[in-house]
Amino acid sequence: MINLKVNGVSRQFDGEPEMPLLWFLRDELQLTGTKYGCGEGLCGACTVHLNGVAVRSCQTPMQAVAGKSVVTIEGLSAKADHPVQQAWRQANVPQCGYCQSGQIMQAAALLKQKPRPTDADIDSAMKGNICRCGTYQRIREAIKAAATKPVANKPAAPKTATGKTTAEVKK
Ligand code: FES
Ligand code: FES
Repeated sequence: MINLKVNGVSRQFDGEPEMPLLWFLRDELQLTGTKYGCGEGLCGACTVHLNGVAVRSCQTPMQAVAGKSVVTIEGLSAKADHPVQQAWRQANVPQCGYCQSGQIMQAAALLKQKPRPTDADIDSAMKGNICRCGTYQRIREAIKAAATKPVANKPAAPKTATGKTTAEVKK
């Protein structure tokens, strides 16, 4: 049995330990904001945070997340109001949108590590996140804008399998 936390909620998994985290998130938890792109660690569409670090969930086996904390795009902020999400909206970044969850999670991890990144830092951190619509220029502008915002931000309230927050369930 593998125990982990996803967006603040304790979860268990008793299947194949080699199964990618991406399948657990999408198929078992219905957290479909995290996307399947290449399945080979080459596009970044499946990026989530593992103990605060951006990882490719298509390349992360369940055995590697035992006892750890996973955050997906659904859990990044309480009301989609993380500074990166706000900046994304202001810069109107997405086009088709498919790559954007991964882009946002990668950018949020970068700003956590380097709150005032240089252009070189941004290029280095984001180079593995592919956007077939070519929104790279707006992504870079949005990351710079987010870097000027206060980082204080509440995480999303943990949700149960029914979609209610744990606080709602206690009521
Ligand atoms: S789907 Fe994971 S890196 Fe492309
Ligand atoms: S917005 Fe379409 S792939 Fe990035």
